[in-house]
Amino acid sequence: MLNLVLFGPPGAGKGTQSQKLIEKYGLIHLSTGDLLRSEIAQGTELGLEAKKLMDHGILVPDEVVIGMISHKLDANKTARGFIFDGFPRTVAQAEALDRLLETKDAPISGMIALEVPADELERRLLERGKDSGRPDDANPGVIRKRIKEYNDKTAPVAGYYKTQNKFTSKDGIGSVDEVFEAIYKIIGSWDAGR
Ligand code: AP5
Ligand code: MG
Repeated sequence: MLNLVLFGPPGAGKGTQSQKLIEKYGLIHLSTGDLLRSEIAQGTELGLEAKKLMDHGILVPDEVVIGMISHKLDANKTARGFIFDGFPRTVAQAEALDRLLETKDAPISGMIALEVPADELERRLLERGKDSGRPDDANPGVIRKRIKEYNDKTAPVAGYYKTQNKFTSKDGIGSVDEVFEAIYKIIGSWDAGR
């Protein structure tokens, strides 16, 4: 099983690269951001609560996203593997994910972190905000808050995977295909080492 954590700040290219990885490896894409937006679109109670935080660029509570991931893992028991995109975003989420995967005997293969400077993140998200319809893309203040949440609460998750020797970082600047090629090589190096 290939269980990949795709990591990086808002706008680093996690969703974009996930689409290409799905085509290449046939993995199930688990984006907590997409799952939450789908709850919002359906008008569920969970979605309405999450929206209040997401629209301000603030993380939703750990137990909400851990519950969603647990549900999705159970619903995809025969999957060849998963891409975790935008999850785990706190060390508590990373610990919970390890516990969930332990029961399935399918640990995380590795984390790949896309490194992109803040000014480029802001540029990408504001550009997308022109037609994405995402309230959290539309306002430079909210984009900066998302980046601050990442630096304060999410960046430490890299250390969690470093101590497990599962961390690789990659420059996320370059064309989408160039970044994908680099990710593909990193995954290949894991296969060779196992
Ligand atoms: P989420 O949906 O996860 O958003 P995000 O991580 O903040 O940022 P994006 O998804 O916008 O970035 P991305 O890295 O996927 O980049 P993309 O490929 O789209 O989360 C939203 C909110 O939900 C959070 O703020 C939080 O409130 C909540 N939430 C979600 N998960 C949570 C969790 N686990 N715990 C708690 N709360 C959670 O690319 C961005 C743009 O750049 C696109 O327009 C793309 O076309 C462009 N682009 C991509 N690659 C390149 C490239 N190589 N060169 C130039 N442009 C590029
Ligand atoms: Mg995304």
